[in-house]
Parts: sequence; structure tokens; C-alpha cells
Amino acid sequence: MTLIDQIDKERIPAHIAIIMDGNGRWAQAKGQPRTAGHAQGVEVVKNIAADAARIGVKFLTLYAFSTENWNRPTAEIEALMKLILDYLEEETFMKNNIRFRVIGGVDLLPPAVQKRLNDCIEHTAANDRMTLTIALSYSSRWELTHTMQKMANDVKKGILQPEDITEDFISSRLLTNFMPDPDLLIRTGGELRISNYLLWQCAYSEFYFCDTYWPDFDAECLYKAIIDFQHRQRRFGKTGDQVREEAQNPS
Ligand code: FPP
Repeated sequence: MTLIDQIDKERIPAHIAIIMDGNGRWAQAKGQPRTAGHAQGVEVVKNIAADAARIGVKFLTLYAFSTENWNRPTAEIEALMKLILDYLEEETFMKNNIRFRVIGGVDLLPPAVQKRLNDCIEHTAANDRMTLTIALSYSSRWELTHTMQKMANDVKKGILQPEDITEDFISSRLLTNFMPDPDLLIRTGGELRISNYLLWQCAYSEFYFCDTYWPDFDAECLYKAIIDFQHRQRRFGKTGDQVREEAQNPS
């Protein structure tokens, strides 16, 4: 049985978040500059976005550039910005009926990238097959800090009461308020950490780590992650018996 046949099409994770790691090591292993890994990584982004949309994933959220990545050598940052700029072709999104979004400190990005991002967001707003979100100049602690500062200001101004700050309210104030929490978080490249990515949102996500470097990640790797996800029992703090009972007697 092929991998795709092993996937239960009724239980596709609605939201997959990915930490795309290993571009640099992939390139260095081939004796190429790190930026060659990023360039190949962009090709994989295009393929995986189309594969995910085809299989029925509704939200795909990719960690492309963290706030900490600003500390990389200038030449690597510039190369990454150029790749992102070249990637942002509305045509690809339109062809696949993909809505494009971005989360992060967008105002820190070069003006040309900001403009292209905004154009893509605007022109793909009505697409509804899948939402592809790129996290750019993003980190979760940065996002939480800014959100808390804004809420504290609202309390100070008297337009927000402290008791109204519930979990749902906090989620609604985060940059990710247009997407559900990730069901599955994938990290490629062999490292076992989440590197300041969607910390609030991944409270109940299933984690999947693979050794494959991002430039080698393909549809088969994605299917393996989904199959692994489908073999897990998500308990959300309940017991296994409770979850089985609820599945047998849905309310
Ligand atoms: C991690 O690999 C990857 C990044 C920091 C950048 C990811 C960016 C892309 C795949 C290209 C741009 C994305 C889009 C959406 C157009 P690393 O460089 O940390 O690899 P290493 O751990 O092997 O050094």
C-alpha cells in the first residue's frame, strides 16, 4: 500500500505548522554556500504548499525567518529576503486557490518585501482552499510580549477589564487569530526543540520531528508525518477511556 493510501482522508490535520530546518547543513554537505540550501528550500515550500492543499490541509504555517535570525550574517539575510521577494508570486497562490497571510514584525522587513507581502495578502484574500501563512521576523515571545503590552494599555485606558482577559480573548488578540491552533507541528533537520514558535498556539499540538533536511522534504515525508499523527490519541488532558467513549458516543 502506498503512503497516500494509508492516510485517513477523513482525519487530515486541519492545521499543520512547520519549522523548516536544515537548509544550511544540506548545502554545506554538498560543498555549497548556505544560501543554496535556502534557494532549494523555497522550491520545497512551493511543492509542499501544493501537496498540503491537495490532501485537504486547511492551514499551513511555515517558520521562514525568526526574530533571532536577524543576527545572521548580513549577506545571508539579504539572500533570504531576495528569495522571499522572488517567491511571492501571486500567480502560484491563485493557481492553487491558496490564501496568503503573514505573521511577524513585518515593518522590519525591506520595503519592497513589505509591499509584495501586502499585494499577495490583498489579492489572495478570497481564495479558500488553504491558508498559507509565512512567519517572518516572528517569534512567539515577541508576539506574546506585544500582545500583553497592548492589553495592558487597554486596561489602563479603561476599555478592557482584567476579568475579560480569558484564554479565548488572548487567542483573539494574537497575530494568529485568523487560524485554529495547529493540530500537528513538524520540525525537519533533526533538532528536538520548538525555537520560540507558536508557543501559546501549540499547547495541544502533536509534535513530529524528522531528520530530513528541509530541502529534501517531499510529499512522502509529509504523508509519513500525517500517518504518524493519525496513529496518536489526542487526549487534551482527559483519560484514554474518556476519549474512546466520546468517540463512540459523539454528543
Ligand atoms: C532553517 O535552516 C531555515 C531558515 C532559517 C530559513 C527558512 C527559509 C526558507 C525555506 C526559504 C524562504 C521561505 C519562504 C517561505 C519563501 P538553517 O539555515 O537554520 O539550517 P541549518 O540548521 O542547517 O543551519
